[in-house]
Amino acid sequence: MSILAIESSCDETAVAVYDDMAGLRAHRLHTQIALHAEYGGVVPELASRDHLTRVVPLVRDTLADAGLDFADLSGVAYTAGPGLIGALMVGGATAAGLAQALGCGIVPVHHMEGHLLAPMLEPDPPAFPFVALLVSGGHTLLVGVEGLGRYTVLGQSLDDAVGEAFDKTAKLLGLPYPGGPALARLAAQGRDGVFRFPRPMTDRPGLDFSFSGLKTAVATRIPEVLCDTARADLARGFEEAVTDTLRIKCARAIEATGYRTLVVAGGVGANLRLREKLGAWAMQQGVRLAFPRQAFCTDNAAMIAYVGWQRRGEARSPAAGIFATPRWSLADLAPVAACA
Ligand code: KG4
Ligand code: ZN
Repeated sequence: MSILAIESSCDETAVAVYDDMAGLRAHRLHTQIALHAEYGGVVPELASRDHLTRVVPLVRDTLADAGLDFADLSGVAYTAGPGLIGALMVGGATAAGLAQALGCGIVPVHHMEGHLLAPMLEPDPPAFPFVALLVSGGHTLLVGVEGLGRYTVLGQSLDDAVGEAFDKTAKLLGLPYPGGPALARLAAQGRDGVFRFPRPMTDRPGLDFSFSGLKTAVATRIPEVLCDTARADLARGFEEAVTDTLRIKCARAIEATGYRTLVVAGGVGANLRLREKLGAWAMQQGVRLAFPRQAFCTDNAAMIAYVGWQRRGEARSPAAGIFATPRWSLADLAPVAACA
């Protein structure tokens, strides 16, 4: 039972193979960072066109890495949303064409469920139930996870996603796209306490977030930043405010649910300062903390292949059309039915 998965929701084209014998057999990724860098952000039409040229060679190479032939595949999964609709359709159409030729089914996968379950690909995966903090370029979510497909959204950002706040702040500091990792590198050279920013929405109860005010607070201090040292100090102040806010809300979610495991996933989960702070807090509280490996925090097809394999019982006929949607709530997912 081998599932090939295609991820193309934004600016990475990725392919992976997962099966019941070896688990993750192979995964490959092509990033479009260089393509979008000169525009300072993802240009949707360029993204779709690039996915189109990359996806078939990536499928061939990943299958070769896995030591499999097309005929060995029993299903094709693809990211069906949320994401850029044109980009999603490239992955969906490729999956449907492949499945049609092979006479197998297609499995639409929710991108954020992929991020949420990415830690399951690690050697000592977390056990249910757990709280998941999902922090990416498009989403900031705290989710109560009771089992596969049994998700309750506990809190979310009311405005900018945390990755978006990193990217916009990086832009204000004149850093190149993608801003998050560049800002984190700069912040590592900065001094603590030189710039202090608010920890939004931590002074009132609840698990929702808001990051647009923080970005504005940074913007008002930009004129003071006239040298590299000051830029690093400001980046540090921003990163401290964001990571403190995330830690405070995670602690609240653990307290509210009574769960003893926290999973952190999504691109911002690669942030080392966040890992450090949550690690210290979790150790002190006796909470189990689980992260995917760094490469599986950001977009990848391994996580889509894992979900596709879990949801292989939901495979549809490729002739029935391609389901893809730019918006899709995790709360709308059905629990995973047991597969034979
Ligand atoms: O999950 P992801 O690869 O794509 C989406 O589904 O959005 O997340 C990308 C986001 C971007 O906003 C990027 O700047 C941010 O994750 N990011 C980081 C770091 N690495 C990636 N933010 C802060 N620190 C990092 N080290
Ligand atoms: Zn993502």
